[in-house]
Amino acid sequence: MLIHKWILKIVIQKNIIKKIMKNILDYLEEGVKNELNVSYLYAAFYYACPEDYQFWWDLSMEEVNHASLLRSGMDFCKFGDSPFEVSDKDLQELIELNIQLPCIIEEFKKNPSRKKAFEIALELENSVGEIHYQKVMTSDKNDQLIKIFKKLNKDDMDHETRIRRYMRENDI
Ligand SMILES: [Fe+2]
Repeated sequence: MLIHKWILKIVIQKNIIKKIMKNILDYLEEGVKNELNVSYLYAAFYYACPEDYQFWWDLSMEEVNHASLLRSGMDFCKFGDSPFEVSDKDLQELIELNIQLPCIIEEFKKNPSRKKAFEIALELENSVGEIHYQKVMTSDKNDQLIKIFKKLNKDDMDHETRIRRYMRENDI
């Protein structure tokens, strides 16, 4: 009887770990999609607003970089243990943002405006920062995935600061 309970406990624990790892990998996959979607959005901005071309080009390229960083994180995750947990709610929020982004891009293309581009970008960097990787910021684990998330989090905040500064300096 005791052995049965012990085996059951191991099976349950294994399933919990499997579920945690699946959520992290799904989250990373959605994260890659999200960075690429944001890169496409900024690309739509640089096509629509030639006066801000360099600014949006730089941000767009940085988002592509974020996508490849996250992709490399998926490899670390497959071979390591779980550095943190991702809830179903976290995952769902990112999935929903990824569903919305192509619509936001299409809407913008139909009615492009310089000011609107900056407003969308600000809102996005804010919300992505919130959804993203806040939970890892307090972690002191020396884990490769945690390091990647910390870098992405820092870059999100840096983007927001740069967008605000550019708007101020260019009277937008
Ligand atoms: Fe990013």
